[in-house]
Amino acid sequence: MKNTKRFLLLAILAVGSIFNLSAQTDNSPGSIVYMNYCSACHGKKLEGGQAPSLLTTKWKHGDSKKAIIQTIKKGVPNTSMMAWENMLNEKQIEQVADYMLSLKKSKKQKS
Ligand code: HEC
Repeated sequence: MKNTKRFLLLAILAVGSIFNLSAQTDNSPGSIVYMNYCSACHGKKLEGGQAPSLLTTKWKHGDSKKAIIQTIKKGVPNTSMMAWENMLNEKQIEQVADYMLSLKKSKKQKS
């Protein structure tokens, strides 16, 4: 009896977290690239994790779209930020740069 209840609880939690995950992306191509390749280090909303938060600190390598694209393509030497130019195509890089900028902007408007 106890075990059945526990299983049900776990099942509910699991379903809940799936819904949560899908609510956090907006399903734009940029957000999908971001969630797949970048969120592990940069956090689901740029809040950081393994990588510094990009919401609270100034972007070291520039926050113009051009600068971001350059950083994504070439990576940052001697850090875990790798070069993505062989993993992602031009379009994906541009989309993910736009997505990161939109996250940054939406955070700014709120605070
Ligand atoms: C393995 C962890 C890791 C992954 C995965 C990763 N990054 Fe990074 N990223 C970092 C770290 C660490 C830094 C900070 C580098 C530094 O100290 O300058 C960084 C820095 C950056 C910066 C520059 C921030 C600044 O301050 O100017 C951009 C832009 C960026 N990452 C974009 C991306 C994108 C887009 C992806 C996915 C395609 C991605 N990163 C995936 C670890 C990661």
